[in-house]
Amino acid sequence: MIDALGQIDLANPDHYVEGVPFEWFDRLRHEHPVVWHPEQPPNRGFWAITRHDDLTAVHMDWETFSSEIGAVGLEELDEEQLQIRNSMLETDPPRHTQMRKICSKRFSARGVGVYEDWIRDVARGVLDRALVSDEPFDFVSEISRELPIRFLCSIFTVPQDDAPALIEWGDQMIANQDPDLSAAVVDREDTEEYRLLPFRSPTARKVFAYADRQRDLRLADPADDVIAALVAAQNEGALNEREYHNYFALLLIAGNETTRHTISSGMLALAEHPDQLELLQDEPDLIPRAVEEILRWATPVMHFRRTATRDVELRGQRIKAGDKVVTWYISANRDEGVFPDPYRFDVTRTPNDHVTFGPGGPHFCLGAHLARLETKILFQELLPRLRSIEILGPPERIRSDFVNGIKRMPVRINPS
Ligand code: HEM
Repeated sequence: MIDALGQIDLANPDHYVEGVPFEWFDRLRHEHPVVWHPEQPPNRGFWAITRHDDLTAVHMDWETFSSEIGAVGLEELDEEQLQIRNSMLETDPPRHTQMRKICSKRFSARGVGVYEDWIRDVARGVLDRALVSDEPFDFVSEISRELPIRFLCSIFTVPQDDAPALIEWGDQMIANQDPDLSAAVVDREDTEEYRLLPFRSPTARKVFAYADRQRDLRLADPADDVIAALVAAQNEGALNEREYHNYFALLLIAGNETTRHTISSGMLALAEHPDQLELLQDEPDLIPRAVEEILRWATPVMHFRRTATRDVELRGQRIKAGDKVVTWYISANRDEGVFPDPYRFDVTRTPNDHVTFGPGGPHFCLGAHLARLETKILFQELLPRLRSIEILGPPERIRSDFVNGIKRMPVRINPS
């Protein structure tokens, strides 16, 4: 079916390097909203789901569209890999509910709200350092990368000095298709020996060793933090060794890079839409609403996958039990049926029913409150300090069909 669509190949990371191929997603939404998309062997292909309401239907019906019987990414895993690599993301209720409960309170609005003043202080410190002069600098490394990881160190209660290593490890794992960031590029090198590690990445071993050291520290000296909650769950038998490792790695990765890309994309969008920047500077009360538009615009995670547990029909297409079903958030967030004029960046957009944290269902992003809070505070602190911002060259994008991210963005900021 997709042959009729010519060049469209959503599973090739090269097609995202110059920018998201939005015209392909537009075409699929209009002409083939549920379509079988072939893949390079050994993968067998997937159903591409591109409309907002279909994404929601798939994610809400977890009994038909399981996270557990296959992986949640495009990579096809055998039973052994699934057993060893799975985290909360790759489970269905009731097991998923038990696992999520281990730290859900800590990531609730109230749980993260207690850190608000602390986050603001960190944001001010980061901006003080970055905005010392009007010399050009890389916005990603100096600003957007700093805040999420510093906060993660705080809720993990690990030394802030560990931040650079945690950033590097997270990048190597999640950006496993980008030779600039990862030593084992999954679609270019033989990564067979890493097939049992998350993201097929050798870096996972470093993260696991770090998780072990942190567990030893908690056992020697009890603390009240996220890692202690994971360690307690393991002691009580709610997590086994492998699940402890994978949970740790999931939090590290999920909490680090996604928020970074949101902040970078948000800054780029505001620089490209000076009227919107000016509006926010004049009316800072609009910033929380602007954060929702920034999240929609940025869509740092472009898709997730489910696997059909039974034969089912969706928009007239017959999906068979065992088929991969890939839900493209990046497309749903530009669905004109839900977002009038979807390619207009409008910080006053309301309602803004974006699916950046998932379209609902059991796996809705655990860190959504945290990501919103960090992004809000960063822009509340940054915008009053800006007289103007110049983007000095094309932002460099991560080579990935999964993460929609900017790795470098040279800027000059004229402080106000
Ligand atoms: C803008 C930043 C972020 C974005 C775009 C994002 C996006 C997502 C998405 C799309 C999902 C899957 C939703 C689904 O399948 O329905 C997810 C799940 C998850 N996110 Fe985030 N996330 C962000 C920040 C965070 C942060 C700060 C954390 C905290 C450490 C976090 C932790 C998680 C976890 C643990 C899951 C798995 C939840 C589950 O399986 O129940 N995320 N996120």
